[in-house]
This record gives sequence, structure tokens and C-alpha cells, in this order.
Amino acid sequence: MAKSFLKDIYSGDTNDSRELYASWATTYDDEVQKNGYVTPKRIANALKDVVTDQSDFILDYGCGTGLSGYALQSVGFENIDGLDVSKEMVMLAEEKSIYKNLKVFDPSTEIPIHSNQYKIITAIGVIGAGAAPLQVFDSLFSLLPQNGLFAFSFNDHTLNDPNYEQKVDNCLSSGHAIMLHKSYGDHLPKAELKSNIYILRKL
Ligand SMILES: C[S@@+](CC[C@H](N)C(=O)[O-])C[C@H]1O[C@@H](n2cnc3c(N)ncnc32)[C@H](O)[C@@H]1O
Repeated sequence: MAKSFLKDIYSGDTNDSRELYASWATTYDDEVQKNGYVTPKRIANALKDVVTDQSDFILDYGCGTGLSGYALQSVGFENIDGLDVSKEMVMLAEEKSIYKNLKVFDPSTEIPIHSNQYKIITAIGVIGAGAAPLQVFDSLFSLLPQNGLFAFSFNDHTLNDPNYEQKVDNCLSSGHAIMLHKSYGDHLPKAELKSNIYILRKL
């Protein structure tokens, strides 16, 4: 039987989770799908409701094996690029032929896109416990153009740390963004985990 990673992933280091995802890559899809992973579908549906042109390029940041890209493509988004820090996860995303461009980068370097390159950035299951650190929120937000959309999720483990929601609240109260969507719902229902999903529009 394959090793279960869901049990220990959330106590992992958000500064560099590459080793963990290198080991998990080949069984990731199977394990999360068996647990009913639904946050990508929830974000894809919510994004579809607020986007007027589904041919706009989306950066699926932390694309992993491509489950998030698949959900976006399934609701009609046509142009999706993927970026991640794990070459093992991205190799599997490549096989799904969802992304127009796929790139792996080293998280100790700058995110390799330029400002305003994407009107829409997603970080689905990426920021927080078990993956990327909170600073990634600021980095991605700063790369969006005015009116750009940022769609992301925080799972229950991440929400247990008040700094994450505080970051979103500060972004709104300082007038840098407005919230187009926020809802709490299933994340990995068979593992009894939920998540908040958010869509912010940059002002
Ligand atoms: C739980 S997986 C989610 C993957 C995909 N978005 C999905 O919904 O299936 C988290 C992903 O975040 C990536 N990741 C971790 N730290 C990162 C960072 N600092 N920058 C970008 N991606 C990161 C991991 O390599 C992994 O592929």
C-alpha cells in the first residue's frame, strides 16, 4: 500500500517543501482524489463567475501535478500556464497537456514572471501549512496589474494560524484590493478538512 502523505504534510516546513513533494508526486493525485479533493473545482467555478474573458492567460502558481489546472480548464479557461518549485510534480503536470507553458523555479529566487504578465493568478492549495510561506501572498499580489484577480485558498490547518487571514484583511482594509468572493467549504472531505477560497481584485 502507498505511503499516506496527508497525515504529515501539514506539519511540514513552508520554507522548502521540495523534498516532501518529490516523494509524494507519484501518489499525490491518487491520494488527494480518494479524499475528495474539491478546492480546485470550487475556485474554478467561482473564478468563472467573475471573469469576462476566459481566454485571458492564468498563472496557476504551485500547479503541482496539474489538478488545479485541470479544474480551471474544465470550466472553460483556455490559456493556463503553470509554475511550481517541484520538478517531480511538474513532470506529472506535463503529461496532462493542460498548460501552455510550464516552469520549475527555485523558491529562494524571485518568482520568474514579470509584473503585469498575468491578469489572473491562482494559488490553489499552495499558500500555508504544507506548502508555500505567507510571503508568497505579497509576492504574487505585487505581480498583478490593476484590476488583476488573485484566487487562492487556505485550508483549515492554515486558517488555524491567524496571520493568514490577517494578511487578507490588511490587504482589504488598506484599500489595495476588494473581495469578489469568499466561501468556506469542502477541501478534502474524506479527511474532514475544509478550506476558505478567496478571489481578490487588485485596486
Ligand atoms: C498541495 S499541492 C497543490 C498543487 C495543485 N495546485 C493542486 O491543487 O493539486 C502544493 C504545491 O505547492 C508547491 N509549492 C510549495 N512551495 C512553493 C513555493 N514556495 N512556490 C511555489 N509552489 C510551491 C508544491 O511543490 C506543490 O506542488
